[in-house]
Amino acid sequence: MDSALDFHSARALLEWQVELGATEAIGDVPVNRYELPDKQAKPAQAKPAAQAIQPGVAPVEEKAADPVRVAREAAAGAGSLDALAGALAAFEHCELKKGARNLVFSDGVAGAPVMIIGEAPGRDEDREGRPFVGRAGQLLDRMLDAIALNRAENVYITNVLPWRPPQNRDPLPEEIAMLKPFLKRHVELARPKVIVLMGNISCQAVLGKRGITRLRGQWDDAMGVPVLPMFHPAYLLRQPQAKRAAWADLLDLNARLRELT
Ligand code: URA
Repeated sequence: MDSALDFHSARALLEWQVELGATEAIGDVPVNRYELPDKQAKPAQAKPAAQAIQPGVAPVEEKAADPVRVAREAAAGAGSLDALAGALAAFEHCELKKGARNLVFSDGVAGAPVMIIGEAPGRDEDREGRPFVGRAGQLLDRMLDAIALNRAENVYITNVLPWRPPQNRDPLPEEIAMLKPFLKRHVELARPKVIVLMGNISCQAVLGKRGITRLRGQWDDAMGVPVLPMFHPAYLLRQPQAKRAAWADLLDLNARLRELT
């Protein structure tokens, strides 16, 4: 394999091989295991940094930074949406960032009456650096269009996580916890009139509740804004019979917006 291959090309090649059915990684050059270096031989241990020892003063142990606290401080210091995007881009405590191509911050009109909060970028969003651009996003656009909403005029869209989780796995609770301060600040700066929570992950992050079948269509309040949980468009693609409920929720959203604007 070309050793100069970058991370994303190498991952795409690996995913392609897995799709073809590869289950084991075997090199194409035989390896003589007897010639491998002795694994028991311990690598030389790095010496701890010398600490100035003062009589009567206990050495200070270095503490790992608490990612949630770091996130809170970074988010609170952002005075605009651009600054918040910059603070997220500079946040180094989330491992997802290392595997993602792009930060997916938002799309649509900042300051729009409707803010949609999805789960996390998928492959297409990671490539383009914009939320909801794949199949689920196209369905979302059609749903919004049915009640005269669109990204060019009156909708603002973001996700709970700004980086794609590997293999589109569900976000981990610690990932949600460390990125929630940014989401909270995002809502404060975008100042929507209503928030639509798409699916369980965003309900978990914003309302601390799961169970979208029960929650959908029930208005709630979070971060000082009325919120409406709805089925995620990706779920609607898999379960088209749920579109009837989604349509009822869209009509309800439309009615609420008319009251508020
Ligand atoms: N699903 C989401 O929740 N968000 C996206 O941006 C894309 C798919």
